[in-house]
Amino acid sequence: MSVLKLSQQLCIQKKEKQIYYSMGRKSLYLLILGVLVAYYAYTPLPHNLEEPWKMMWLNTYLKTFSHLATFVELLGLNHYMDTLRYFMSPNETPPTSDENVTVTETTFNDIPVRVYVPKRKSEALRRSVFYIHGGGWCLGSAALFECDLQSRQTADRLDAVVISVNYRLAPMYHFPVQFEDVYNALRWFLRKNILEKYGVNPERIGVSGDSAGGNLAAAVVQQLLDDQDVKIKLKIQSLIYPALQTSDVDTPSYQENSHFPILPKSLMVRFWSEYFTTDRSLEKAMYSNQHIPLESSHVLKLVNWSSLLPERFKKGYVYKNPAYGSSELARKYPGFLDVRAAPLLADDNKLRGLPPTYVITCQYDVLRDDGLMYVTRLQNAGVQVTHNHIEDGFHGVFSLRTFEISHRVMDQYISWLSENL
Ligand SMILES: *[C@@H]1O[C@H](CO)[C@@H](O)[C@H](O)[C@H]1NC(C)=O
Ligand SMILES: *[C@@H]1O[C@H](CO)[C@@H](O)[C@H](O)[C@H]1NC(C)=O
Repeated sequence: MSVLKLSQQLCIQKKEKQIYYSMGRKSLYLLILGVLVAYYAYTPLPHNLEEPWKMMWLNTYLKTFSHLATFVELLGLNHYMDTLRYFMSPNETPPTSDENVTVTETTFNDIPVRVYVPKRKSEALRRSVFYIHGGGWCLGSAALFECDLQSRQTADRLDAVVISVNYRLAPMYHFPVQFEDVYNALRWFLRKNILEKYGVNPERIGVSGDSAGGNLAAAVVQQLLDDQDVKIKLKIQSLIYPALQTSDVDTPSYQENSHFPILPKSLMVRFWSEYFTTDRSLEKAMYSNQHIPLESSHVLKLVNWSSLLPERFKKGYVYKNPAYGSSELARKYPGFLDVRAAPLLADDNKLRGLPPTYVITCQYDVLRDDGLMYVTRLQNAGVQVTHNHIEDGFHGVFSLRTFEISHRVMDQYISWLSENL
């Protein structure tokens, strides 16, 4: 074999080797990518969930943003919630009127609100929905596309004036700022001259909210019962998968759905603790359900799922009396035991005065049992309650219009309001 041939042969071998190696690297990369995609997209989903692929994509998308926000926070650059809010901001829409509804922005007692008034002529005064958006007291806005669309459709379909309130958010502001902003805006609205200005019938006003907005709705409606200055009585309240208590984050629904997309337990606990403080020791204690001090143990019977949940939701779960936490947390952040943050802590006397109530709960939601327990407590107190439990529903279903089920839930909500408000 000539030297030339030999070197050619070697050269070919080398190339093959290179190709072989580069193929090896490529499949390694592909494998890593596959594992990452699987990790991100994989979620065990229940069989009765419609459109599971949409849920997988949404979950992948949310997880990516959440991980980025966690990373940015680890680097010490930005608070987790601020990063999430930044990611959501492109989804905000200006207050634009359409052919059926006039949309404007103003302030009620210095609190910004978006107002939706139907354009069609009305002989009579209109009914009105005072709406409080969700987002864990940290995120969300009346301007977000989904919230704006929902308010617009409510105004149009019910021929109602919708007020959508923009309260201040954590981590910049903590409890009771969110509560007070909503309450002050509502009180401002419930005055004769303001209702006249918007053509609202004072006997047909309701308060409504989803998630953290459902929490604020339940809280302000309770507070209003004792307010001597407000003469107008609300006709209804509507609570869409509301958060109603901080005392037990180990209810069957928290256990069952702790990793369910959109609102895993870790995020809900973070929302709760951020409502009261940015000090993460509360979050830690809360996550392990060790934040209620012994001297506050009396609150636990008000949120005792063992006695308040219908049998079918208890399944095989065994009620454990909680391990008590340090008194120091409750002293530093008394908000988490305040009825204005945890409406389930109201006593029966208070509950008796509440207006007819609509409650939506979803099977796949850590907050399901909060809603269920409130339904039981309201019924025990003699309040007229319509409970709509969505068997194939999940947290966020009211706003996520890309899902078919969302339209079904919205239709049920509108039809209840149209009959009861
Ligand atoms: C306005 O109302 C009409 C009649 O109900 C409806 O067909 C139309 O889609 C509505 N427009 C918007 C923007 O919602
Ligand atoms: C909760 O209720 C169960 C009975 O349903 C009872 O055994 C338990 O002591 C109660 N715990 C608290 C803290 O109220």
